[in-house]
Amino acid sequence: MKSSSGMDSNASTLVQMLKIAEDLRRLYEEKKQALQALNHAHHEVLMKLAAAAEFRDGDTGVHIVRLGLMSEKLSLLRGESVEYGFMMRLAAPMHDVGKIGIPDHILKKPGQLTPEEREQMNRHAEIGHEMLLSSVPLFQLAASIALTHHERFDGGGYPRGLRGHEIPLEGRVVALVDYFDALAMDRCYRKALDDEEVIGMIAEQKQRHFDPELVELFISNVECFIALRENTNARSLLFKDLIHYAADDLIQQP
Ligand SMILES: [Fe+2]
Repeated sequence: MKSSSGMDSNASTLVQMLKIAEDLRRLYEEKKQALQALNHAHHEVLMKLAAAAEFRDGDTGVHIVRLGLMSEKLSLLRGESVEYGFMMRLAAPMHDVGKIGIPDHILKKPGQLTPEEREQMNRHAEIGHEMLLSSVPLFQLAASIALTHHERFDGGGYPRGLRGHEIPLEGRVVALVDYFDALAMDRCYRKALDDEEVIGMIAEQKQRHFDPELVELFISNVECFIALRENTNARSLLFKDLIHYAADDLIQQP
C-alpha cells in the first residue's frame, strides 16, 4: 500500500513537473514572439523616421539603405562582432534624422548657406541625438551616430569638436561611408564622381577628416563597398529589407 501510494505520489509530482515545464515553454515562446514583435516595431519606427528625414532632404532613400550595409561591412572588417554589425546596419540610416527639425528654406536652399543658416543646419546632429535617446540599445547606438557623424578625426568637426578616438567608433564609421556613398551618387547640384576620384579624396582625408585605420581598411577592401552599392541598387532594396539582408551575403550573391 505504502509503496503504491509512493508511486502515485511520484507519478503525480512528475505530471505536475511536466505541466510546469510545458507552461514555462509556452510562456517562453509567447515572450519570444512578443520580443520579436517589439524588435520589429522598433525597427519600423527607426526606418520611418529615417525615411521622413530623407524625403525632406529630397533623396530617394536608397542612400541610407546602402549606408546601413556599408557601415555593417566596415565594422566587421575592423573585427567587430556580428551583433555590432547588425546594429550598425539598422542604426546608421538614422544619422540625419534630425534634419526633420531644420526649416525647409534652409534644408532645400539651392545656393550656399549663410554662416547663420549653416549654424542652424549643423544643429541636425544634436536634434537627431535628442530625438533618438532611449533605453533601447539600438536607439542608443543610433543617437550616438546622429550626434557624432560630423565630427572629424583632427578635431575640426561639429557639434563638439571631438578628436581621434574621443569620437565613438560608430561615428567614425558612418562619417567615412556617408562621404563615399554621397559623392558617388548624382545630386541635383552635381553629377556623381567616379570611384577612383572619390577613393583619392578619401585617401587625402586620412588622419584629417577620417580615422586612418578605417581609411586603410576601406581602401584595401573597396571592391566590397562597390559591390554592396551595385547589388543594393540592382535589388532595389528598401528600408524594411535591412533586417533580412546581411552585408556579406549581399556582397557574395549579386
Ligand atoms: Fe548629417
